[in-house]
Amino acid sequence: MPTDDAYNILIIGAAGDLALNKLYPALYYLHRDGNCPEEMSIYGISRRTLRKNTFLNTIKSNIAADKFFDDNAWQSFARRLIYTSLDATDPPTMKKFSRELKKTRRSLIIYLAMPPNLFTATCQSLKSADIVNEHTRIVVEKPLGDSQHSFIETNNLLSDIFHEQQIYRIDHYLGKEAVQNLLVLRFANLLYEPLWNHNYIDHVQITVAETVGVDGRAQFYDATGALRDMVQNHLLQLLCLIAMDPPATLSSNAVSDEKLKILRSLKTIDHTNARDYTVRAQYTGGAVDGKSVVGYMEEKNMPAQSTTETFVALRAEIDSWRWSGVPFYLRTGKRLPKRSSEIVIQYKQVPHIIFPHSAASPNTLIIRLQPNEGIQLKVMNKVPGLDQDIELSPMTLDLFFSKIFAQNRHIDAYELLLLNVIRGDTTLFMRADEVEAAWEWVDKIRAGWHKIKHPIGQYTAGTWGPTDAVALLAKRDRSWYEQ
Ligand code: BG6
Repeated sequence: MPTDDAYNILIIGAAGDLALNKLYPALYYLHRDGNCPEEMSIYGISRRTLRKNTFLNTIKSNIAADKFFDDNAWQSFARRLIYTSLDATDPPTMKKFSRELKKTRRSLIIYLAMPPNLFTATCQSLKSADIVNEHTRIVVEKPLGDSQHSFIETNNLLSDIFHEQQIYRIDHYLGKEAVQNLLVLRFANLLYEPLWNHNYIDHVQITVAETVGVDGRAQFYDATGALRDMVQNHLLQLLCLIAMDPPATLSSNAVSDEKLKILRSLKTIDHTNARDYTVRAQYTGGAVDGKSVVGYMEEKNMPAQSTTETFVALRAEIDSWRWSGVPFYLRTGKRLPKRSSEIVIQYKQVPHIIFPHSAASPNTLIIRLQPNEGIQLKVMNKVPGLDQDIELSPMTLDLFFSKIFAQNRHIDAYELLLLNVIRGDTTLFMRADEVEAAWEWVDKIRAGWHKIKHPIGQYTAGTWGPTDAVALLAKRDRSWYEQ
């Protein structure tokens, strides 16, 4: 019988981009740094026929360029890897394979890294192959459905085979160092919490800007769009971490309970207010990072007449005592001028200004998630001098993590997430009800767009989106923070 503390990993979809570019490199670093149990084997299966050497070389080429590459560690890591070409959706094949796995007498961490269209068949095949026991852990990647309805269907399928504590729903943003630091910033400092509410905060901005385009994923992306690809998961998770009440503990359920309260308090955006609260647009040809790029419609394999948004900006509101009247402006887009994810907390102006000769601007807290993780606090300061008319100047307190922590290398989100799966800790993963609530909110926006035939705007690649996104804030005398 498999035991509850000895695990092998099984990656289904082992020859896909996610596995080759993210999962195997993350596991290599965990192995190199002594974070993998000694005996753990890493099985990879996919339908692609690959010679073992080709498979290993592909993984190695993704790691070897790193200046921290260690060939000895690679050799011992490679000994853990087993690749088998087989169809995971075929129950008899999986049954046969499961006999192989059972010989190791270890439980499994199963990582579903294959395209969503194979999800149902793979789950059914896992079930009938008798590969799962009460210790098995299953890791699933977004997209988790494409609507509330399909999420529930997918989730029912998983719940039929696994208990909730066995399911690890990944949002890789939750594994980013700076995202975890949000919890520390908010709940290990007394300084912020008393001011963290509608009395002192004017509004919050959450921006996830990308310079990449659809990156060869035209088919997936065009059927998805920025709202479902980014807002439903990454941006809403960030919003939850910023807006939630302090959880009683760091346990997975305590954190999920608080996040869920936020998701359920989001004011509905539907056909009645979508025009005022949302902006959607698609990029046209332009230049990013000094290189000219084609427009969305000219991307390879793009269907003609697509109206899918590659940019979305919206004003979210949380109906709660803490956040009443505080807008959370979210925006994300492809082909923007720079890759940058940041959260901006814009405080209100001081209630009474006693310095008549100089303007005072309100405080701003900027949390940079990537790149150059750090925290900046804009405060007002006196300009040194003997002048009787005190002159004020905004100054920045700057915490630049890579300068402060002499970190050797950037730890990818997948390393931490996989390590937590190995440890059996679900805190950084999403509970089913969170995902469902996020879908419910997003579905209403989509239905609203559909009903009012909300037009798709355009923006030139390499700019910060359409002018409507500027207007979204400007109509309430605000502007996006850009430095
Ligand atoms: C993924 C989206 O979830 O996140 C991609 O599907 C997006 O479209 C990516 O590019 C962004 O992740 P990161 O970590 O590069 O910000």
